[in-house]
Amino acid sequence: SHQPQPPQHFRGRWSSRLGFIMAAAGSAVGLGNIWKFPYITGMHGGGAFVLFYLFCIVTIGVPLMVAEMVIGRHTRKDPVGAFKRLRGGGWTLVGWMGVVAGFVILSYYCVVAGWAVDYLWLALKGTFSLQYAAQVPQLFGDLLASDCSQLFWQAIVMVATVLIVIGGVKSGLERANKIMMPILFLILVALAGYGFFSSGGVKAFQFLFAPDWSKLDPPAMLEALGHAFFSLSLGMGAMLTYGSYADEEISIPRVAITVSIMDTLVALLAGLAIFPIVFSYGMAPAAGPGLVFKTLPILFSRMPGGTLIAILFFLLLVFAALTSAISLLEVVVAYYCDELKWDRTKATLIAGVLIFVLGVPAALSNNLLKDWHLLGARNFLDSVDFLSTNYLLPLGGLLITLFAGWVLTPKVGREELLKGGGSQGVYRVWFFLIRYISPVLVALVLLNKIGLF
Ligand code: PFF
Repeated sequence: SHQPQPPQHFRGRWSSRLGFIMAAAGSAVGLGNIWKFPYITGMHGGGAFVLFYLFCIVTIGVPLMVAEMVIGRHTRKDPVGAFKRLRGGGWTLVGWMGVVAGFVILSYYCVVAGWAVDYLWLALKGTFSLQYAAQVPQLFGDLLASDCSQLFWQAIVMVATVLIVIGGVKSGLERANKIMMPILFLILVALAGYGFFSSGGVKAFQFLFAPDWSKLDPPAMLEALGHAFFSLSLGMGAMLTYGSYADEEISIPRVAITVSIMDTLVALLAGLAIFPIVFSYGMAPAAGPGLVFKTLPILFSRMPGGTLIAILFFLLLVFAALTSAISLLEVVVAYYCDELKWDRTKATLIAGVLIFVLGVPAALSNNLLKDWHLLGARNFLDSVDFLSTNYLLPLGGLLITLFAGWVLTPKVGREELLKGGGSQGVYRVWFFLIRYISPVLVALVLLNKIGLF
């Protein structure tokens, strides 16, 4: 096209709609899908929880993702700059909360991603085989007890994240996502296929999709609602930042719907890959957070071909984590570049070092600092995770929905949604959802987290 280039073009742009979709899907698909979704589904009884989760994705997730991308593309700024330009005053705080959330979430996300890299390394060494089956149940405890191992893998993850982000929007973020996302998807389809045709396949399918509505109690509903946020990377300006690199002729609703479908598909496929193995060996689906790092490895070590399956599974987990980690770092880097006018290399290196340092107590939270309880019985890592995903993201999400539905001039939303062949009808549906439906539902989650119900 021969449109005049906007002056902010040096910020970088995705090279195409596909590049934008891959990057946004890379951010959404992460530890939340493969580690967290299967275990919370397991704990809440399956089918009905899954269907309600899908309802949340449609009524809150998609409209909020559209809102973030609209704000990003319209301002072509980082979250702080975007709110400052559109309204300023107290609303700038929403942008600030996003940058702080990116900082905090990435600090411990690197530690958990480090566990996945450690497990990939163990799998490559052949540790998940019958020969070592007696040691496998202790591996997770050993890893958590080792300060050195965790710091080492945390550093490796941070270095990889920094190296990708330093490359910039096109040759860093977009390229990394275009390499890792298709591989991730292929591995997942292969593993889900393997699971489906194993002896636990039918049972897993029923568990995931046959609803038992009596299991859908209010806590399960609220957990589903909260997880929709985390899984779609919403509430902290990650999708806003990615939207700020999108071309004018792209249809934002189409991208948001595509990304949401991909994210949901990956979560369901992860369930279809993991539960058949769990059921084939008669294990409990409600094992909790240890499902991926404790239960699965035990099963890998007993099954034929387990070493190969383990290598593929942990490679999948590492790729999913990395493509999300780079989006978390990009929020902070975009702030440094746009607001402080630093160049990208300086911004990325400084952010990387600071966030690594903040993550050190998270890596030590199960060993040297295990007696340091920040919130109730939670150690440092669990406390920071709890605060950011249960308070920072929902609060940020609530404020963004209120901003998009009630503060932002409707003309901006209409203009952005009509680009790329969008219709008035789609705009009206979005505006209704973001103005009346999403804020009420998000407020419900938040009030529940505060303990009102
Ligand atoms: N969506 C990621 C996951 O499911 O693991 C986590 C995440 C990434 C949350 C980026 C927020 C974010 F901005």
